[in-house]
Amino acid sequence: MKKNAFFTPIATAILLVAAGVALAQEPVEPISPVKEVNLGKVELGKKLYFDPRLSKSGFISCNSCHNLSMGGTDNLKTSIGHKWQQGPINSPTVLNSSLNVAQFWDGRAADLKAQAGGPIANPGEMAFTHTLAVDMLETIPEYVIEFKLVFGKALIDIDQVTDAIAEFEKTLVTPNSRFDHWLLGETDAITAEELGGYQLFKLSGCIACHNGSSLGGTSFQKMGIVEPYQTANTAQGLIAVTGKDADRFKFKVPTLRNVALTYPYFHDGEAATLSHAVDIMGRLQLGKQFTPQENAQIVAFLKTLTGDQPLFDLPMLPPSTDKTPKPTPFD
Ligand code: HEC
Ligand code: HEC
Repeated sequence: MKKNAFFTPIATAILLVAAGVALAQEPVEPISPVKEVNLGKVELGKKLYFDPRLSKSGFISCNSCHNLSMGGTDNLKTSIGHKWQQGPINSPTVLNSSLNVAQFWDGRAADLKAQAGGPIANPGEMAFTHTLAVDMLETIPEYVIEFKLVFGKALIDIDQVTDAIAEFEKTLVTPNSRFDHWLLGETDAITAEELGGYQLFKLSGCIACHNGSSLGGTSFQKMGIVEPYQTANTAQGLIAVTGKDADRFKFKVPTLRNVALTYPYFHDGEAATLSHAVDIMGRLQLGKQFTPQENAQIVAFLKTLTGDQPLFDLPMLPPSTDKTPKPTPFD
C-alpha cells in the first residue's frame, strides 16, 4: 500500500510530462469544452436556431440545413431553400464553426454573428427580411420578455437576434473524440490502423492545410493544386471577396472534425464518401495516389475525429399569437 502511495504520484507525473511532450509535438490540439458563454443568450439563441418562423415559409430553420442530429449539416449535395430552390453550394457543418478564421466557403462573413443574418434574408434560403423577422418576434410576448431579460433593451433588433444565435453556436463544439483522448496521452484510444492513418496524414502533407484543433478552418487554399478540380459548380471561392485573381478557386479549408457525419464532401458536395474525398485530395492537392490500404488507413483515422455531439433538451418555442403574421410557404 505504502509503496503504491509513493509511486503513484511519480508515475502520474511522468505520464503527464510524456503526454505534454506528445501534445507539444503534434500539429493538432484537442477540442476544448466550451467556456465563458452567456447562458441566457445561449438559451435564447437555441430557440431562434430552431425557430422556422424566421423564414418566409414558416418552415425552414437554421436546423433544416444544419441539422444537429446529422453532424450540423443536411447531408445533401447542395441545400434546399425556400420553395424547394436548389442551393448553389454544400452546407458546411456548424459544429466547431466558432473556431474558423472566417465563415462561409469563401470567408465573406468575419464571424458567426455576421454570418447569422445572411440566411434569414437570403431569397434562396429562408427568404425573409430582417425587419419582418424582428416584427414577427415582437408579436410573441414570451420572446419579448426573454429578449428584454437578456439584452435589457426596449425593442428587439436584428443585432440581438444574430448575437444570440452566435452565442448558441459557440456551444456547438465537439470535445472528447477518440483522437483527442489519444492526443491527451491515452495511447490505446485509437487502433494501430488509425494511428497509421494519422502518420500518413502528417507525412503526406494533409496537415499543411488541415491543422489546428479543427484540422481545418485556419486558412484559404486552392482546390486543385497539382491537378485542376473539375466541377460544374460555379462558385469561385475567395476571389468573390478579395477580387484578386490569385484567390480564384481558393476555399476555406473545411474542418475534418466529425467528418464521418458531414458527407457529402467538397463545396459542390460531389464526393459522396470519405474514401473518394481522400483519393481526390491525395491526387489533386499532393500529387499522391494512395493504395487502397493507405486510403483505408486515412479514412479510419478520419473516423476517430467524431466528438461528443451537442446534447440538450429540444427548446420549446413560444406559440404564435393572433398578431403574428401567418407563414406564406407557397409564395
Ligand atoms: C437553406 C439552407 C440553409 C439555411 C436555412 C441556413 N443555412 Fe447556414 N449555410 C448554408 C449553406 C449552403 C452555407 C454555405 C454558403 C456559402 O459558403 O456560400 C451555410 C453556411 C453557414 C455557416 C458557415 C460555416 C462555415 O464553416 O463556413 C454557418 C455558421 C451557418 N451557415 C449558420 C446558419 C444559421 C445560424 C442559420 C439560421 C439563421 C443558417 N445557417 C441557415 C445553408 C443554410
Ligand atoms: C493545399 C491544401 C490542402 C491539402 C494539402 C489537403 N487538403 Fe483537404 N481540403 C482542402 C480544401 C481547400 C478543401 C475544400 C475543397 C473544396 O470543397 O472545393 C479540402 C477538403 C477536404 C475534405 C472534404 C471535407 C468536407 O467537409 O467537404 C477532406 C475529407 C479532406 N480535405 C481531406 C484531406 C486529406 C486526407 C488530405 C491529405 C491526403 C488533404 N485533405 C490535403 C485543402 C487541402
